[in-house]
Amino acid sequence: MADEWKIKCLVPDLPSAQEVLPYLERMDSARWYSNFGPLVTEFEARMADFIAQMSPTCRTPLHTVTFSSATTALELYFRASGLPDGARILVPGLTFSATAASVAITGNTPVFSDVDPDTWDLTPAIARAALEKGPLDAVLPVAIYGYPLDMDAWAAFEAETGVKVIVDAAAALGNQHVHADVPVIFSLHATKPFGVGEGGLLVTSDAALADKCRRLSNFAFDDGTSRAIGTNAKMAEAMAAYGLAQIERFPAVQARRREVLAAYVSALGTKHFHPKTADYVPGTLLFDTEGKADAVEAALTSANIQIRKWYFPPLREHAAFRGADIAGQGVSNELPVIESLKSRLVGLPFHAFLSDEDISHVADCIRKTTV
Ligand SMILES: Cc1ncc(COP(=O)(O)O)c(C=O)c1O
Repeated sequence: MADEWKIKCLVPDLPSAQEVLPYLERMDSARWYSNFGPLVTEFEARMADFIAQMSPTCRTPLHTVTFSSATTALELYFRASGLPDGARILVPGLTFSATAASVAITGNTPVFSDVDPDTWDLTPAIARAALEKGPLDAVLPVAIYGYPLDMDAWAAFEAETGVKVIVDAAAALGNQHVHADVPVIFSLHATKPFGVGEGGLLVTSDAALADKCRRLSNFAFDDGTSRAIGTNAKMAEAMAAYGLAQIERFPAVQARRREVLAAYVSALGTKHFHPKTADYVPGTLLFDTEGKADAVEAALTSANIQIRKWYFPPLREHAAFRGADIAGQGVSNELPVIESLKSRLVGLPFHAFLSDEDISHVADCIRKTTV
């Protein structure tokens, strides 16, 4: 079905084989393909510079550690973080399943929260209210759809409450600045704005945490013996080759995404998009249909335009998380904001290869359905 769409929802924008070739040739000459080789080492250093430049208020040196994915980065963060066994970790009920799965698979308890009705994310205010109703050991807010979170506010939350914060900014590389006190994880999956194929990145000012996560990603080896139960979650040199080539072209990638967003805004206005649309280009573009999500889906699908309803059904409706706890409410209550967003949000086609005509066509179909 995917190839039959006239307009696809998401098309990866990765470097061409030609752009990656010089890096692959370096890999060939070194005959070094994994295990923290020169390309991974250079990629980590360049990403640390890039993220530090984006975060001028963070004056502490940053450590970046690569992984096979954001999911393995999250899992190893939880393995390394020193949280108590079975820690209760607040996660938004509206996110990709990997957010909550990384909590559960490492023996912790995901506790679902509702989200802010305007920004669609788990905010410090929501976490504070949850904490008044019951104990929490950590909070895992998500930079939903790639819009950045207010890291100063999250650092203040951690300082005030003593509850650890780790940010899942999977889709927000290029938008999310960092704070010295709050570790952040990014995804480098092909569908993300900074795609390499598969990969994840932990950014932290905590050298010991970075070192522990790195060791766990390589069987927890230390002097040839496993000091703990580790795994294999390293980034391969070939993925770092893509990463280094992607760094070169990322300003152009971002510029093109900005143009596509501007075309949508000129066709549909800003009212139905996220409030940060004027300042940031998201990873995925959600349109607020104000209750007409099914009608918009039907209209676009019948025009052969692919949409995605990210991240619906919400996690509590997935078999894996049915019966999971809700912050301060026990297991039976619903999350009303997420419930209402179900009939509101539709993910529109959003990628570098959309023409102005494609965007006009999408906008026309939406206008006919929503007016
Ligand atoms: C919010 C969120 N967290 C985590 C992930 C997992 O990222 P990865 O595919 O790199 O494991 C994704 C991927 O889509 C995501 O959207």
